[in-house]
Amino acid sequence: MANKITLPELASFCKKKGFVFQAAEIYGGLAGFFDFGPLGTQLKHNLKDTYRKEFVHKRDNIVEQDGSIITNPKVWKASGHVDNFGDLVLTTTQTKTKLRADHFIEDTLNIPGDALTADDINKLIKEHNLKYNDEDFEEVKDFNLMFNTQVGADTTKTATAYLRPETCQSIFPNFRSVADVSRAKLPFGIVQVGKAFRNEISPRDFIFRCREFEQIEMEYFFHPQTECEALSEKQLQTKIQFLSAENQDNESAQMTEVTISDLLKQKRLNTHHAYWVAEFFNWLNHDIGLNTKNLRIREHTKTELSHYSTATLDIDYQYGMGFKEMLGIANRGDYDLTQHQKHSKSKLEFFDEVTSSKVLPHVIEPSLGVERFMMAVLSEGFTNDEERGNIVLKLEPKVAPFKVAILPLMGKAPLVAKAQEILAELRDEDIITDYDKSGSVGRRYARQDEIGTPYCVTIDFETLEDGELKDTVTIRDRDSTEQKRIAVSDLYITLRKLLKDKSFFSKLE
Ligand code: GAP
Repeated sequence: MANKITLPELASFCKKKGFVFQAAEIYGGLAGFFDFGPLGTQLKHNLKDTYRKEFVHKRDNIVEQDGSIITNPKVWKASGHVDNFGDLVLTTTQTKTKLRADHFIEDTLNIPGDALTADDINKLIKEHNLKYNDEDFEEVKDFNLMFNTQVGADTTKTATAYLRPETCQSIFPNFRSVADVSRAKLPFGIVQVGKAFRNEISPRDFIFRCREFEQIEMEYFFHPQTECEALSEKQLQTKIQFLSAENQDNESAQMTEVTISDLLKQKRLNTHHAYWVAEFFNWLNHDIGLNTKNLRIREHTKTELSHYSTATLDIDYQYGMGFKEMLGIANRGDYDLTQHQKHSKSKLEFFDEVTSSKVLPHVIEPSLGVERFMMAVLSEGFTNDEERGNIVLKLEPKVAPFKVAILPLMGKAPLVAKAQEILAELRDEDIITDYDKSGSVGRRYARQDEIGTPYCVTIDFETLEDGELKDTVTIRDRDSTEQKRIAVSDLYITLRKLLKDKSFFSKLE
């Protein structure tokens, strides 16, 4: 019954329902930039809030900061982004068309492009006599992805600055201040959520590769000589589909099923890294509802690793175009703190009470793109229900844009008044609620199914009339279409329980 949604279907669904539009569509849009409509905006808020709740609010040792988008450009020199943050670009000889080199090779030769160096690409182009629209290519070149801007009005003195290409970087220069004010002890984490900008050579695949996007990044600082105490036996036994670095050399890239414990034994990661891979994998599966069949962990190859990373494992999601990176979990070692210490000449060492010594902590960085997260959640939930004759967006209640819809059976005054009274009460209690009184109730159920609202509450004449059902309403479950009758006085508490635990519906009388 459930169809795996293709990218064009997802894009058209998102536009139709008001999740995502092209930026400034009436002017023809701008490649790589998107605007989020009412439902998309709320879904993004919910995704970020769910993350915050799980990884910041529930934990004693993780805090949040909100750094500026434009900062002192020395930050980007120190971090290595000015010199190293680029992709390889191919330019055609006549029209000077620019193509992202690894994508061009992937698309034309059908081989993985992630690990290819400039030499590999030049060689492949020669070997296969590759052309683009009958044009030859110049030698492959590096292209820096950072957007430049000028700070200050006096153009003779203005300094070149950059729009941040990753959200996390301002955590490192602030690391000591944030740790001090939070009375932090190792290990601890700092999270930052916000916009990032990259002048992608070829933005594509809907909102998968944009030029402006949001990231949720965590820098988790730990003493390099310690093991992760929080890593549990249950996490170690987490089973995952895994694509190793060495398996990406052959063309039919093979996944194997392994446990986190196997990855540790194979020395692919340390225990802190293993802890975060397991935490994110299980959160995406249990809390967000992504099926493990649609998740895989892919190890970066040596040539693909970012300049700051000693080991990176991506969690890929199986989108309409196949398995692709949704988030990366990198071991950044002490690269960033060392660089900022050197360039700023400020001491960034931290006193560790356990070992009674000063240390430059090491860092594990889980980095999640909100747009890719959103695409995964929408793809997972999208169900073309032929029996019902409509789409059902089976989102987990915690991420659904609306938690409940209030529907008076008809647009008649007493029903509307009662519905409005219930609506006001729920909204007062911070339950995000939609209200719909137009069209048949069946049509309205379908409309709510399509936007992922987990529960609909219908107010009918029996709610108002004296009798057994006075002051009761019908509550309908999106996924099963089952309906139950509950007292209006129990509605709020029932919804609270249902929003935490969907299975509570079956326990309702
Ligand atoms: N701080 C590390 C970092 O930025 P990355 O792998 O370049 O690492 C992390 O990016 C995540 O950000 C990716 O896994 C992806 O979810 C998201 N992301 C990166 N580039 C993106 C783009 N152009 N459009 C949308 N999301 C992007």
